[in-house]
Amino acid sequence: MIDQSTIDRIFSTSQIVEVVGDFVALKKRGANYTGLCPFHNEKTPSFSVSPAKNIFKCFGCGKAGNPVTFVMEHEQLSYADALRYLAKKYNIEVVEDTPSEEDVAKRSERDSLMVVTEYARNYFVKTLKTHRDGQAIAQSYLRERGLRDDIIEKFQLGFCVDERDAFSKEAVGAGFRPEFLDKVGVSKLRDDGSLFDRFRGRIIFPIHAIAGKVIGFGARVMKTDNKEIAKYLNSPESEIYHKSNTLYGIYFAKNAITKQDKCFLVEGYMDVIAMHQSGIENVVASSGTSLTLDQIRMIRRFTQNVTIIYDGDPAGIKAAFRGIPMVLEEGLNVRVLLLPDGHDPDSFARSYSASALQDYISKNEHDFITFSSGILLKDASDDPVKRASVISEIVKTISVIPDQIFRAVYVKECSHLLGVEESVLHSQISQLRKEKVATKYNTELVEKRGAALQPTETPVPTTHPCSGNELDIMRLLVLHGDKTLYTVEEGGYSRPVRVKEYIISEIYEGEMFFLNETNKVIFNDFIEKLESGIQVDEAYYLNHPEQAFRDFAFKHLHPQYRLSKIFMIDKTLADKGVDFMMEAERQFLDKLVFETILSYKMKRMKMESIKVLEEMKTTSDPEALRVILQKQMYIKEFEKQIAAEIKRLSC
Ligand code: CTP
Ligand code: MN
Repeated sequence: MIDQSTIDRIFSTSQIVEVVGDFVALKKRGANYTGLCPFHNEKTPSFSVSPAKNIFKCFGCGKAGNPVTFVMEHEQLSYADALRYLAKKYNIEVVEDTPSEEDVAKRSERDSLMVVTEYARNYFVKTLKTHRDGQAIAQSYLRERGLRDDIIEKFQLGFCVDERDAFSKEAVGAGFRPEFLDKVGVSKLRDDGSLFDRFRGRIIFPIHAIAGKVIGFGARVMKTDNKEIAKYLNSPESEIYHKSNTLYGIYFAKNAITKQDKCFLVEGYMDVIAMHQSGIENVVASSGTSLTLDQIRMIRRFTQNVTIIYDGDPAGIKAAFRGIPMVLEEGLNVRVLLLPDGHDPDSFARSYSASALQDYISKNEHDFITFSSGILLKDASDDPVKRASVISEIVKTISVIPDQIFRAVYVKECSHLLGVEESVLHSQISQLRKEKVATKYNTELVEKRGAALQPTETPVPTTHPCSGNELDIMRLLVLHGDKTLYTVEEGGYSRPVRVKEYIISEIYEGEMFFLNETNKVIFNDFIEKLESGIQVDEAYYLNHPEQAFRDFAFKHLHPQYRLSKIFMIDKTLADKGVDFMMEAERQFLDKLVFETILSYKMKRMKMESIKVLEEMKTTSDPEALRVILQKQMYIKEFEKQIAAEIKRLSC
């Protein structure tokens, strides 16, 4: 085991921001950093890192811990291996108490496989550099393909000589177990117990996990004249290598992706490497699998912006059409760049200078509407029936985008490009979304309760229907209460009306007191503190003795992410490193406050109207019915007013 003083050093040296920052794109927010939680699937950041306390905490899934537990959880390592990982990161010498052989024996299969891949990687690199064939055949092949030495080195490319079992023999000699060599796919284990080299005569591309560990290999033949032989052999699925949640190049790309706030997605190993060589480092490949959800989610941990670069041939176009809705559905921005026919990113990057390449990309990448309509309309030309089906195809794609503001932006563009009324597109989209929700709901319900039960009853809500709106209001009060909402002219001078004044008067005068019991307590406490002149802020709630107050702070006292998406499209603020979420709220504060209050009123009206309908069912007295009807008309009228105001706001 690792000696206690080493452990102490590792603990005192490891900085949570640096450790987490290797895996998650973090943005500074006040004294802390936030990002997308790597432990659960989320679209708005609720993962927080405190450098002062040297801890992380996710307000979404509740995971929390220190640098060591983070590495354990994230990399699926044992305690000892997490310590070793950190020791390596911080150049701390590890002193072991007991012989590490015992340790090795105790290691999980996962760890053993990683040791095998690391050994194999080193062996193949060495072979490329020093073996006669490595130098004469493999190196000259790589050079012929235009790869520089520094790039070969960086990607740890290697070579496996064309002999039956040169590698396997050496590996077994070094103490590696044949089953493990077989499992990671570098050797093949025959029934008679003999091994042969799976990748013999091939160039080796090590595949790295996010943190840089080698988890598998791709191996390319150098001659492609024999069509019988597969161009690439890849590691099989194993305890450490899952093709569907691996992105080739992610380890080398992650920093650049965060910095550029953008990720290029290409098809192959060579494409990633060639783009790196011409200076574009924010690039990863799905390597031979069609894009998967896990791969998209991995990208989303670093950026919201993806540009798919595929060949301009029919296969590339088809792949792009398949990938677009998947990326959109995960809430990312997607652009597409098709290369001139006959080119892939590799050949293209090599035939242009780095700056010409950058230039070509920025001029030719299109958002998916321009891309799809361009391609689809080429065949449709003037045929109105075909045109209609193109439009409905694009509308279908827009409908999967989870964010309403995003959808609206694309509807505008689509309407402009295809000459269709926005309202027509909107209504088609809302129809599609309704259908989708209905299907999803029904399937889930049927799955849950068994097919025998009719999926007609609605589930009992666990929280009050207005609770969310009430919390929205509370967060505006706490985060923005003191800011000026507008000014009024009074007796010759202008008086600022603050957010809290406006909200409180709306609630009191409109008799819209909170309905959820907990929210009521929090609201009344706010008023009480305000009246006694006590300033309440985020810290007040975070440190409050009552759990409900702390929960409110954890879950709701963040800027609203929805608005920030406006800036995802505009992006100028994010580029300047401004905390664009906060900035977005600042800029749109008035709209946000009005909209929040109006939505709350709308919700309350909807509830009233449900109540009235219930009353109507149980009443037969004509006089009482008349009163109810009047009430209902009043509600409808009020709803109309609110809807009009909301509409005015969104213009
Ligand atoms: N691929 C594979 N097996 C094959 C062919 C392709 O696994 N028989 C995967 C590889 O990950 C490859 C990717 O699909 O990188 C894209 O294929 P391709 O464009 O043919 O390969 P390149 O990487 O571009 O290789 P090269 O340019 O050397 O032909
Ligand atoms: Mn290629």
